[in-house]
Amino acid sequence: MEKRVYNFSPGPAVLPLKILEQAQRDLVCYPGAGCSILEISHRSKTFDKIILGAEANIRTLYGIPDNYRVLFMQGGAILQFGMVAMNLLRDSGKAADYILTGTWSKKASEEAATQGKINVAFNAKATNYNRVPKQEELKLDPNAAYVYHCSNETIQGVQYPALPNVGDVPLIGDFSSDFLSRPVDVSKYGVMFACAQKNAGPAGVTMVIIRDDLVAKSPANLPSLVNYKVFAEGKSLLNTPPTFAIYIVKLVTDWLLNEIGGLAKIAKINEQKANLLYDAIEQSGGFYTAHAEPNCCSHMNVPFRLAKPELEEPFLKGAAALDLCELKGHRSVGGCRASIYNAMPVEGVQALRDFMLDFAKKNA
Ligand SMILES: Cc1ncc(COP(=O)(O)O)c(C=O)c1O
Repeated sequence: MEKRVYNFSPGPAVLPLKILEQAQRDLVCYPGAGCSILEISHRSKTFDKIILGAEANIRTLYGIPDNYRVLFMQGGAILQFGMVAMNLLRDSGKAADYILTGTWSKKASEEAATQGKINVAFNAKATNYNRVPKQEELKLDPNAAYVYHCSNETIQGVQYPALPNVGDVPLIGDFSSDFLSRPVDVSKYGVMFACAQKNAGPAGVTMVIIRDDLVAKSPANLPSLVNYKVFAEGKSLLNTPPTFAIYIVKLVTDWLLNEIGGLAKIAKINEQKANLLYDAIEQSGGFYTAHAEPNCCSHMNVPFRLAKPELEEPFLKGAAALDLCELKGHRSVGGCRASIYNAMPVEGVQALRDFMLDFAKKNA
């Protein structure tokens, strides 16, 4: 096998090696099926066990109440930006509140605005999206169709330390980049959704967790594949689902349950990993600075800048020479970004921390 590097990509992102090795075996012959996982019907008993198993694992991990459906959809998280509005805003006669904390919530508000009226309940643009709002800063409409937020802004590295309080209005959350990374009280949400390719599997499947009373609101005149109600009635099998991606989600959630021991455990590990990097940034005495404010800096994505931008290129080259890869920041924030999802081993983050401290010492 070729050497594997420490992959700090924001997504598609690192997966546990054990899972890749199991997938390699099952790619040729899935146990009991007599053929590849890629070759089995989505209507077969074998696949039925996989999709129901993935759902059961997600339900157990989050403690999802019975009055929520778990859907496996396609079209990525961005389709959900539009679908939430098509299903819950377009025909509601109301407006929806959007909390803008970064690129992804802003994009979601733009997609929703194609379907209905939106209000900006908070906008962190003035500080280049480096924070979440304080509760008293939110301009919420008690009559809104829903309140929308992004739990973790992948590009800006801004993560909510606690849920916004939205009263009785349904809360919608984009969990694409912190799905299954820490416990969440699902009962506080109307809809949670996440593409898989950061924390839960490969690209191709998007998980939607939606409360029954909201499922019931889908307008009848929406096409079936973008209609939550029809999709839920079809148990995610209206058409051919992304079978391989769902199979990997099953393996990842097995790993989280059986090897890691659940979301409280992985949250602790994620906090430890993130602290290694934030402590190194702090210790560097201004050589590095984090993008996000300390109270909301993400445990999943750590964007940081070097005080001397001309050192960025040598930093990335030096890191790559040590197999610390995919650290270039997004063009809208600049600098560097380390994505340290569930499957990034502690040793990878330690190696990056050591390199950061060493590079700062040599180039101060
Ligand atoms: C928070 C967040 N939301 C949405 C998306 C878009 O996901 P997709 O490419 O699956 O549509 C991403 C992708 O990077 C993301 O990080």
